[in-house]
Amino acid sequence: MNITIVGTGYVGLVTGACFSEWGHNVMCVDNDQRKVDMLHRMEMPIYEDGLEALVRRNVEAGRLHFSNSIKEGTAFAEVIFIAVGTPPGYRGAANLSYVEQVGREVAENMDGYRLLVEKSTVPVNTGEQLKRTMSKYMKADIPFDIASNPEFLKEGTAIEDAFDPDRIVVGVESERAAQLMREIYEPIIQKTNCAFLVMNIASAELTKHASNSFLATKISFINAVSRVCELTGANVEQVAQGMGLDRRIGPKFLNAGVGYGGSCFPKDVDAFVQIADNLGYDFELLKTVQRVNKTQREHVMQMIQRELWVVQDKEVAILGLAFKPGTDDIRESPSLYFVPQLIEAGAKLRLWDPVAEQNFAERFPDQRYTKTPMEALEGADLLLVLTEWPEVKALEPEAMKKVMRCPVVVDGRNVFDPKVMHDQGFSYTSIGRPGIAV
Ligand code: UGA
Repeated sequence: MNITIVGTGYVGLVTGACFSEWGHNVMCVDNDQRKVDMLHRMEMPIYEDGLEALVRRNVEAGRLHFSNSIKEGTAFAEVIFIAVGTPPGYRGAANLSYVEQVGREVAENMDGYRLLVEKSTVPVNTGEQLKRTMSKYMKADIPFDIASNPEFLKEGTAIEDAFDPDRIVVGVESERAAQLMREIYEPIIQKTNCAFLVMNIASAELTKHASNSFLATKISFINAVSRVCELTGANVEQVAQGMGLDRRIGPKFLNAGVGYGGSCFPKDVDAFVQIADNLGYDFELLKTVQRVNKTQREHVMQMIQRELWVVQDKEVAILGLAFKPGTDDIRESPSLYFVPQLIEAGAKLRLWDPVAEQNFAERFPDQRYTKTPMEALEGADLLLVLTEWPEVKALEPEAMKKVMRCPVVVDGRNVFDPKVMHDQGFSYTSIGRPGIAV
């Protein structure tokens, strides 16, 4: 089947590459000529494990194409996915101008039936608005459908996730749209036997908000539990294990830390609160989830201040600038909270991240970046761990202690073993775990 995807960000490019791998002919469209040129040169505009090889293979097989023209994309395929950005806009609500623009341009250029699929995370009822936009801008009375097909991929494991989905959710209004969506996903349904859920458009849109907000709730819940653990001598990892083995709870997303970041959870929880507010429902539970996420960072900042006493002129090593391992994405990353705070307090920073350095340096060009974690630790008065990259987990406490000026670690991701750190003579603070593990 021919498929057009508009937007070559994390969602669009990964989806396009995976659809082509499943045998479809895909055209990825982006109005950013720089990105299209990069893709023609086989350079990836984003870092995602395995993406380059997947793109290369499918371009060479003649199944994956790039263009800067929605007109061309509209002529190419019956099904057009919208995977453009929906950045936070006024009072946390998603800015839908890019989504609207795609709808308008498709309407102006279509010459026969088209199915327009929302892949970007959009507020509930965007489908209705898209339908109105299409009808308004169409030159003749041409039949079309709108569908919602929310994305559940995680950055860093997006390709793995696409090839092994827990479920595929589609929101449609017609049998024709349902069949087209089924045809697109048939190869992966056959392979993995995953659930294919067909529902109305508003339900599909809400499934995405509810899923991300629930996962964020799980994280804030365990972070709140970690605070009680710190006050009682309990160990949050042991509590999470005890909870997670209950199949109704599940073990995932119960890692306490500095709080959630990224381009999805903070923005999506904000948007869900805003949507509910606009509809007249005060989503207090999610407001608390947001507050816990914010105070968790402040709490870790207090840990640092307690350790350093005077922050001015202290050498602080920060390991991990991306919002999580496996990505160069720094959007809403905890590092964007800690780095400015520490700079303002007069600390001298040494920053390390294996792939996010360039993105971070564009925002903080005057900081010192190191090539290895060990180099960041040389002469440091304190180490702050913000992302659990494997390179950080692999550090040897004995070697760390030798190069640091003071053996002090604030571990925002519970990477190290408290007992080992204690035995090595570190002043070691982590999230919700007593100094010495039982
Ligand atoms: C998230 C969802 O997991 C995906 O299902 C969804 O498709 C995606 O948003 C999206 O809406 O596009 P992602 O933002 O890539 O994916 O990252 P996650 O792996 O979910 O992690 C989000 C944040 O939560 C990270 O900062 C991570 O460090 C933090 N986290 C995660 C914790 O603090 N504890 C945990 O136990 C798990």
